[in-house]
Amino acid sequence: MEFSVKSCPSAAPRTSCLVLGVHENGKLPAATATIDQATDGYLRKIIKNGDLPGQLGQSLMLHAVPGIPCQRLLLVGAGPEGALNDRAFGKLLQCTFKALAGSGAREAMLQLSELDVTGRDTAWKINQIVTVAQQTLYRFDRLKSKAPKQPSLRRACLLVARKELSAAKKSLAQAVATAHGVELARDLANLPANICTPNYLLKEARKIARGNKSVTVRALNEAAMKKLGMGALLSVAQGSRTPPQLIIIQYKGAKARQKPVALVGKGVTFDSGGISLKPGAAMDEMKFDMCGAATVLGTMAAAIEMQLPLNLVALIPATENLPDGNASKPGDVVTTLSGQTVEILNTDAEGRLILCDSLSYAARFKPELVIDVATLTGACVVALGAHPSGLFSNHPPLATALLKAGNYSLDRAWEMPLWDEYQDQLKSNFADMANIGGRHGGAITAAAFLSRFTTDQHWAHLDIAGTAWKSGAEKGATGRPVPLLTRFLLAHCQVAKDGSLDQ
Ligand code: BES
Ligand code: MN
Ligand code: ZN
Repeated sequence: MEFSVKSCPSAAPRTSCLVLGVHENGKLPAATATIDQATDGYLRKIIKNGDLPGQLGQSLMLHAVPGIPCQRLLLVGAGPEGALNDRAFGKLLQCTFKALAGSGAREAMLQLSELDVTGRDTAWKINQIVTVAQQTLYRFDRLKSKAPKQPSLRRACLLVARKELSAAKKSLAQAVATAHGVELARDLANLPANICTPNYLLKEARKIARGNKSVTVRALNEAAMKKLGMGALLSVAQGSRTPPQLIIIQYKGAKARQKPVALVGKGVTFDSGGISLKPGAAMDEMKFDMCGAATVLGTMAAAIEMQLPLNLVALIPATENLPDGNASKPGDVVTTLSGQTVEILNTDAEGRLILCDSLSYAARFKPELVIDVATLTGACVVALGAHPSGLFSNHPPLATALLKAGNYSLDRAWEMPLWDEYQDQLKSNFADMANIGGRHGGAITAAAFLSRFTTDQHWAHLDIAGTAWKSGAEKGATGRPVPLLTRFLLAHCQVAKDGSLDQ
């Protein structure tokens, strides 16, 4: 899909589909009223007949409306005037793009950014329009031998007030880059584990870097990890015949002396649980256990497309977690890159094992801050459901900035405690710590485990087990939290210019 912005013309534009909002009780937003006049009151007549949609989620497609040069006119319900909040606007957009996708229109002009959304400006509305378009029109058909019919819609033009045009262009470019990142993350996560292997992820990383002088990609293989002493990461990989990779992407968008932001993404391309084997039901969904990696790749792609004035380092530990004669066993003790030892009481708590070594390794880049993203615990889904990602941090200004980015992008996070009290649950009789902390507060003890490897870093952890994919009829990847992280990085460019996060 291609997006553009244009300033609202004074008369109805020539288009194959013009999209207008309509409030409940026949109230017409200014742009809709203008078109109504051009049609000599055609829309008012429809209102009189009681056929105009006003309620949220309703739409009406009209053809060959007299007096305007538009093939189609799509009217979408915007609910009562003055009551359009974030969620309602999202619903309206979803309904709009569903209707457009179901029509034969190849191109549309949307006059929706003038609708009043409580507390939101035009830049935000443009961002949402592009986000919801991506969400609604996305298809993953590449593994079907006969691709189902695609929506005809190819181009969408967003109409804005003339004085907002240049700001709108800038926010459109950011929104489109973010949508590309989301799409990449969804594609990678939807691919099955027999295709999307650690090597496949490495190739994808190289693809992102291609033709871009400010990006370098390399990877540590098993031998390199051994040499470094990444005993925890290796213990997860040792049960698989598919070699692991620690993928490293560096993007230099700022002066060399500016400390980078490090992003670490869990890339378990399939999590069977290992010797602590998972039950069979829905085990296929564990191909999504690399959504942290997909998020980091998507966010990097977006940042590179926007050429953000930041330095970034992405670290992606990629491996399978399988049972095998050589797999690690419950009770095994491994030495991590940090030197701390871990008793593996459950081989299914593998995410924290690959992340702890990656987080220790991240410190070598002397980052300003580190954010890890991982489908880490089922307990996080029990605690928070599918709406927010779980956020944990040892640095309150970083937590605040991430929460803010989530609230802006509507890809929200919710902060969970990381108190010392929880550390007691990780006690081991045989090593420095165990890799599980019992039934209580499972998402928190997983984060508490990671915190032992980030004591000298400004660090945040996003548990995305509930947000990165959907189960059931709509099974598939969501691309979350690419919007949150991309927004965070965009906002961070300003912070990097003005000083550090703490000020
Ligand atoms: N990848 C899973 C987390 C997960 C489970 C995400 C279910 C989404 C749905 C992770 O590696 C895992 O297996 N975690 C265990 C930890 C437990 C053994 C302490 C879990 O959550 O059950
Ligand atoms: Mn697991
Ligand atoms: Zn896992």
